[in-house]
Amino acid sequence: MPAMKAEIDQADASAQRRQTAIARDAMYRASTEIRKMQIDFSREDVFCKVQQRCGDPLFLEPFWMQHASTSAVVVTGWHRMSYTFNDHSFVSHELESHIRRVHSVAKNAITKGKKILFGGGSTQLLGAAVYALSMNLSSPASVVAAAPAYPLYQTQTNFFRNTHFEFKGDVTTLKNDSNTETNAIEFVTSPNNPDGSLREAVLQGVSAKAIYDHAYYWPHFTAIPAPANEDIMIFTISKLTGHAGSRFGWAFVKDENVYENMKTYISVAEMGLSREAQLRALKLMKAILTGNETDIFDYAYNKMSDRWQKLSQIISSSKRFSLQKISPLFCNFFEKVRGPSPAYAWLKCEREEDSNCNLVLGEAKIIGRAGNLFNVEDRYVRLSLLKSDDDFNLLLQRLGKLVESEKETAKIM
Ligand SMILES: Cc1ncc(COP(=O)(O)O)c(C=O)c1O
Repeated sequence: MPAMKAEIDQADASAQRRQTAIARDAMYRASTEIRKMQIDFSREDVFCKVQQRCGDPLFLEPFWMQHASTSAVVVTGWHRMSYTFNDHSFVSHELESHIRRVHSVAKNAITKGKKILFGGGSTQLLGAAVYALSMNLSSPASVVAAAPAYPLYQTQTNFFRNTHFEFKGDVTTLKNDSNTETNAIEFVTSPNNPDGSLREAVLQGVSAKAIYDHAYYWPHFTAIPAPANEDIMIFTISKLTGHAGSRFGWAFVKDENVYENMKTYISVAEMGLSREAQLRALKLMKAILTGNETDIFDYAYNKMSDRWQKLSQIISSSKRFSLQKISPLFCNFFEKVRGPSPAYAWLKCEREEDSNCNLVLGEAKIIGRAGNLFNVEDRYVRLSLLKSDDDFNLLLQRLGKLVESEKETAKIM
């Protein structure tokens, strides 16, 4: 018997050694991976160059850290398993009423008399709107947007192209078209991505329809001269709260048929929108509406306005670069005239020879989104002002050096 016990002990000990070796091996591999990642990330130039390209809105991260408990969501495993809510609907009516309330606080949209629709980010709703406006037409619709235009309109319309619609580029192609019968769908981005300008539809008349993309129509990014009141208005949580990863957007639609067609599109594509995304959005809306209800707007405006002032100050001493002009405007939300606080800088390289502005910025390890993506010359570049504090400070530092070196060169010459 003692011999048997010794054998068992020996077997246990060797199993334990095997486990320890496996664990050690796993830890070694994990630490090697982490080291590799650290090396990749410490290659600051590669990492940070890429960073300026996209519009990830992390500037609100500190706001949500300050509101961690009111915005936290916990979902137990058995909760919200059904496709639908208790009333058999795909949409949370509580969320709907909170969204309407947030608009009435921001004074940026008239939502009364319009139906609301949820989508997987505003991206999905933009596609749904093109489908809904074109599906019953007798001839295919030409889809257009005024340059400089947000690139996704072209990419998405081309990708989903069918016999009902086709992307035709800049709106001027239709404006100069003598055939007033041409069915047209115009994306109107207001404020515009990339230049922050407030826009109205260029095309008018019975055969022209507009989809208003109001992703940035919040006091964070623009004065609100009046509440928007168009037939199709699309908003997104990505730019209101910064939660781009939740993939949640909403549309207000006036016309019953257009609304029904958009709804069909969403249900065929998705069978309704994720209930977790709706819960997350509800919690964020509730957090926005606690206290004096204006905290997020005050915070976001102050931050974006401060960023714009710092950037403008650097560029103002340069002859090589210029920024878009945005005039102060009366804002219904702040009830006063306020200055600019755009989401993006639309930078122009002024020198004749600097026709590729990204190449010039590349000298300072900055790469923005090139003008050609927005349907204009590469003399223009979009720089995101929505990034984290660290990313923004690095951008300022590098631009500052670039402008300084311009002055040094001018002195020598
Ligand atoms: C003008 C505009 N519309 C729509 C979107 C897409 O937003 P979402 O994250 O809701 O799909 C963006 C994102 O940058 C945008 O700039």
